[in-house]
Amino acid sequence: MSRALRLFVLGLLAISPVVAQTFTDCDPTQKDCPADLALGISNYTVDFTTALDATVWNTTSGKIVPSSNGSLFTINKRFDSPTIQSKFYIFFGTVEVHMKAALGQGIISSIVLESDDLDEIDWEFMGGNNTHAETNYFGKGNQTTFDRALYHPVATPSDTFHNYTLVWTAEKLQWFIDTKLVRTLNYADANSGHNYPQTPMTVRLGIWAGGDPGLNNGTIEWAGGATDFTKAPYTMYVQSAKIADFSTGQSYSYGDRTGNWQSIKSTV
Ligand SMILES: *[C@@H]1O[C@H](CO)[C@@H](O)[C@H](O)[C@H]1NC(C)=O
Ligand SMILES: *[C@@H]1O[C@H](CO)[C@@H](O)[C@H](O)[C@H]1NC(C)=O
Ligand SMILES: *[C@@H]1O[C@H](CO)[C@@H](O)[C@H](O)[C@H]1NC(C)=O
Ligand SMILES: *[C@@H]1O[C@H](CO)[C@@H](O)[C@H](O)[C@H]1NC(C)=O
Ligand SMILES: *[C@@H]1O[C@H](CO)[C@@H](O)[C@H](O)[C@H]1NC(C)=O
Ligand SMILES: *[C@@H]1O[C@H](CO)[C@@H](O)[C@H](O)[C@H]1NC(C)=O
Ligand SMILES: *[C@@H]1O[C@H](CO)[C@@H](O)[C@H](O)[C@H]1NC(C)=O
Repeated sequence: MSRALRLFVLGLLAISPVVAQTFTDCDPTQKDCPADLALGISNYTVDFTTALDATVWNTTSGKIVPSSNGSLFTINKRFDSPTIQSKFYIFFGTVEVHMKAALGQGIISSIVLESDDLDEIDWEFMGGNNTHAETNYFGKGNQTTFDRALYHPVATPSDTFHNYTLVWTAEKLQWFIDTKLVRTLNYADANSGHNYPQTPMTVRLGIWAGGDPGLNNGTIEWAGGATDFTKAPYTMYVQSAKIADFSTGQSYSYGDRTGNWQSIKSTV
């Protein structure tokens, strides 16, 4: 998605207040940036059947509607892309999300972890594909190749709630669907660690139309085809999340410009 979403932003910035999930306000490998607020605990749970705590979560686009089935992330019309982003960061940890993807061609439901220097870990669900989920990752915004996406079988992800869990350490990154391990990325296997996600991450949940007719063909194809907005609404449901930060402290900051995990400092 990273690539697609950036293309999305590039393509639509001029005509729409699109908010992407994959952006950074300040890249610490380029300049000095404010420290990142740490989650710092291992047992944070979020109940999405009630209103989100605005001190913890920032709604960066659109609005999220809580219900007894979980929070609704809905595209009602073209250019809608409701998205939330944690104000906290985790520096290695686990992210468990129970959600149901939106059904609909070209509609992308997603769980994204994103760092200030554009390390990224993704789950993406194409609303026209009710048999597979995509996983992906990026290191330091490196987009020279796009061969990192993998597709995993899931039983009707657009009709059924599933447990999508990430377990992320300095050594390896694992994706689980309903407790079954579907992918492991070892540090060394990500371009000898250079492309391994390894800096403090925010958690972002959202939905957008990769099949927007204004986008280029590559993105629309990746998204599974053009979106028909006359068939809106398209809704993703998020029931709950459980997040653990494997590091502790008040904040995380980059000790130098490398973006290497060894350079990250925790302030207590
Ligand atoms: C979560 O962990 C913290 C310590 O890390 C503890 O103080 C708190 O009671 C725990 N909360 C729950 C609900 O387990
Ligand atoms: C929350 O989101 C708004 C809109 O994107 C942004 O201007 C603001 O800086 C964000 N605040 C935090 C704490 O991330
Ligand atoms: C919750 O989901 C059930 C089953 O899909 C549905 O019948 C019900 O209307 C939904 N409730 C809300 C508040 O969306
Ligand atoms: C869903 O994705 C899988 C993996 O890419 C692909 O094999 C399958 O054909 C796709 N199904 C549809 C309906 O696009
Ligand atoms: C979700 O999957 C993770 C990873 O396997 C597991 O640790 C966790 O217990 C599961 N959650 C539930 C509620 O089953
Ligand atoms: C970006 O990733 C590609 C593919 O893994 C790699 O060949 C290249 O060296 C990377 N660039 C940097 C700056 O790490
Ligand atoms: C996109 O693909 C369609 C169908 O193959 C084609 O008609 C159209 O010209 C393509 N558009 C671009 C911008 O390449």
